[in-house]
Amino acid sequence: MTTTDLQDGSRMTPRPRVTVEPRVDPAHDPMDVHPDGKPHSMEVRNVFKSFGSFDVLKGLNLNFQDDAITTVLGPSGTGKSVLIKHLVGLLEPDDGEVLIFGQDLWKIPTAERYEIRQKMGVLFQDGALFGSMNLFDNTAFPLRKHTEKSEDEIREIVMQRLTEVGLDRSWSKYPNEVSGGMRKRAGFARALVMDPKIVFFDEPDSGLDPVRTSLLNDLILEMHAEHKGTYLLVTHDIRTARKVSDYVGVIWKGQVVHYSKAEEAFNSDIPFVRQFLAGESAGPLGMD
Ligand SMILES: Nc1ncnc2c1ncn2[C@@H]1O[C@H](COP(=O)(O)OP(=O)(O)OP(=O)(O)O)[C@@H](O)[C@H]1O
Ligand SMILES: [Mg+2]
Repeated sequence: MTTTDLQDGSRMTPRPRVTVEPRVDPAHDPMDVHPDGKPHSMEVRNVFKSFGSFDVLKGLNLNFQDDAITTVLGPSGTGKSVLIKHLVGLLEPDDGEVLIFGQDLWKIPTAERYEIRQKMGVLFQDGALFGSMNLFDNTAFPLRKHTEKSEDEIREIVMQRLTEVGLDRSWSKYPNEVSGGMRKRAGFARALVMDPKIVFFDEPDSGLDPVRTSLLNDLILEMHAEHKGTYLLVTHDIRTARKVSDYVGVIWKGQVVHYSKAEEAFNSDIPFVRQFLAGESAGPLGMD
């Protein structure tokens, strides 16, 4: 290792560079086959994605366990939101396959892709509500757009979902009249209104205080217990990950470097995974 003499007379010894080999617990190989031989609801196979000369996903593999909550963690800018956009069919991979219910999203006609998308619910970071609609109309929007249901049927479903997320008495409020936590819950109600088989949460806890984060996590667990479904949650909050996850995937440098049951991930001896899940500054991960 070389030591550099700095202009002010001091000397700097660079930190050693540590490389981490991607490692996936063989007991939970994301490329494994579903125990009953059926396809997983969601599979990502060797997906590559670049924006210009910037490579984001570099051969990412992940088989999501059905009816489980999988949390994906990883440093900022590592491609977590890009992964969700691939799974929702908003981004097309440069190479590799994104399979939903066994179908490659980009080998089927566009109309079929849209049909599959209707079986998915997405809770975006800020709830992504329409500012010009009250919480009722926001929640009713997918039903009015994609189904032939009558207004009576829609009212029943929407009020049930709003009740589940504790917003039944706030149905007439507009997004700018409610708190961030309420907007998230309304976004959650809307994400679930079509009875999706797959639900995505992109940083559901961002912008929430610890108590509201904890309450939202309880709600995620309750709704999952009630409605089942394959949930993918992206978060930076280790407490959220500990609380809600059945499985944990860790993405680094465009690949899944760890994927296992949650308790195994939190007991991992892989330096990067340990550092990341413990939120420590010492380890292979630096600011770069
Ligand atoms: N449409 C796009 N065009 C160009 N670059 C993009 C696009 N979408 C994402 N990127 C880049 O891809 C990288 C991964 O972005 P992504 O949003 O997936 O990160 P992330 O892991 O979700 O980060 P964070 O934890 O901060 O939300 C970033 O460097 C981002 O700038
Ligand atoms: Mg993101």
